[in-house]
Amino acid sequence: MTISAAIIGAGRTGGWHRDGLLGQPDVRLVGVADARREAAEAMGRETGAAAFDDYREMLARTRPDVAYVCTPAAEHLEQVRAAAELGINVFIEKPLATSVADAFVIADLVERHGILCTVGYQWRYNPATEAAREALAGRPIALLTGWWYWTIPPVPWLRDRRFGGGQIVDMATHLVDLMRDLAGDVTEVYAAYTRNAVPEAELPNWDANAVTLRFAGGAVGSLQTTYALFPGIPLSHGVDVAARELLVRVELGTTTIYRRDAEPEITRAPEGWNIDIAFMDAVRRNDPAAIRSPARDAAKSLAVTLAANYSAVTGKVVTMPEFEANPPTDAPIMPTGEPVIAGTERT
Ligand SMILES: NC(=O)c1ccc[n+]([C@@H]2O[C@H](COP(=O)([O-])OP(=O)(O)OC[C@H]3O[C@@H](n4cnc5c(N)ncnc54)[C@H](O)[C@@H]3O)[C@@H](O)[C@H]2O)c1
Repeated sequence: MTISAAIIGAGRTGGWHRDGLLGQPDVRLVGVADARREAAEAMGRETGAAAFDDYREMLARTRPDVAYVCTPAAEHLEQVRAAAELGINVFIEKPLATSVADAFVIADLVERHGILCTVGYQWRYNPATEAAREALAGRPIALLTGWWYWTIPPVPWLRDRRFGGGQIVDMATHLVDLMRDLAGDVTEVYAAYTRNAVPEAELPNWDANAVTLRFAGGAVGSLQTTYALFPGIPLSHGVDVAARELLVRVELGTTTIYRRDAEPEITRAPEGWNIDIAFMDAVRRNDPAAIRSPARDAAKSLAVTLAANYSAVTGKVVTMPEFEANPPTDAPIMPTGEPVIAGTERT
């Protein structure tokens, strides 16, 4: 059986997934859509896929088995709706949406239409993460610490907090989602952000973020992230999880387990592993049980990150069940949800 795939959004991540899909002999790329027609055509020429500037037309004409949604988060809802209504399985890049309400509508849609859907939280699928799950199984967790030392984002719209939502919403969402995978739901969020090291003209965004979390299972956690640094710093991002006499350190693709008086146990993902291999495997077997990052779960991770933004701006401690049920609209920090087409955004 051949799996036919289509990509919506022929930008940076669209290119990564093109490579991940075409690295599998039984996957064929049948369509590429981008609001910038030239981007769709360029990817079409490279791959032999048909190029479109209208994703609805592409979905209707090519009827792929799976659509990859690789556009800015504010675009995801309508694109997922179009695919779901045609019964097309979807891979949705993180973050799921730019509002809690849209994120839960996406979850409702994929469940109602019974399609396979994953969100692009690759840490959940990474084989090395399984070693962390196994080590922590049945152990009460005391502390989770996540950090991401990074630089000014290369994609202009992501640099701007009005479109990308800031580093917690766009990037540390991976850390929040991994923490939730390992420690369960977050119940309380408090955050302090700053813009102190990089001028607004260069980075229209917060340049550092400190977030405190409380988990339903009793653990506490924190996130420390910054855009003020540079790539290439060793161990620039990861999550540490402490249980009694056990430290589990998860980097993307490597898990290290420290126990008293023992050599560290290191588990690495196999060379060449990627999330597209895992998702195509689920599609091949039509197996919902193989989905590790369902939309409803991703909606909860998004909600935690938006709650952090809200807390940073208002100074309030946010209670998660309340925030999810009744997302506040009073603060100007929630991303705008305006359409973003690469090349037209402010730089
Ligand atoms: N999983 C990860 O680790 C990871 C890493 C980086 C980015 N992302 C996510 O991937 C998504 C895309 O980011 P990117 O870096 O590829 O951005 P990008 O700007 O490079 O690419 C987005 C593409 O979508 C196109 N587009 C925008 N609106 C469209 C529309 N309505 N219809 C069709 N095409 C449209 C743009 O023209 C552009 O080519 C974001 O949600 C981002 O957060 C995920």
